[in-house]
Amino acid sequence: AKITYIQHDGDQQTVEVKNGLSVMEGAIRNNVPGIDADCGGACACATCHVYVDADWLQEAGKASAMEESMLDFAENVEPNSRLSCQIRVSDALDGLVVRLPESQH
Ligand code: FES
Repeated sequence: AKITYIQHDGDQQTVEVKNGLSVMEGAIRNNVPGIDADCGGACACATCHVYVDADWLQEAGKASAMEESMLDFAENVEPNSRLSCQIRVSDALDGLVVRLPESQH
């Protein structure tokens, strides 16, 4: 699926991410800056925080209870905040747009 990552300063990159990978892994493998992912995808660090574009909120789904509690540690959390290691890429997310917070720059 094609995923677009938009930096806090407006720079954006659209990359091809294989189904089954997470949105976080898609950024790391394609050298997209702005996602630190200190815990490697275990939902334990909140440094893979992204803002899901309004058009994609439904498809991206809701955060799990564990993800919600980890998001409490992220800065500037908004209603569309998610941890990108917890969003699994699939055909349904082809075209997904996420914005990256300034704090992870
Ligand atoms: Fe650590 Fe997502 S990579 S919570």
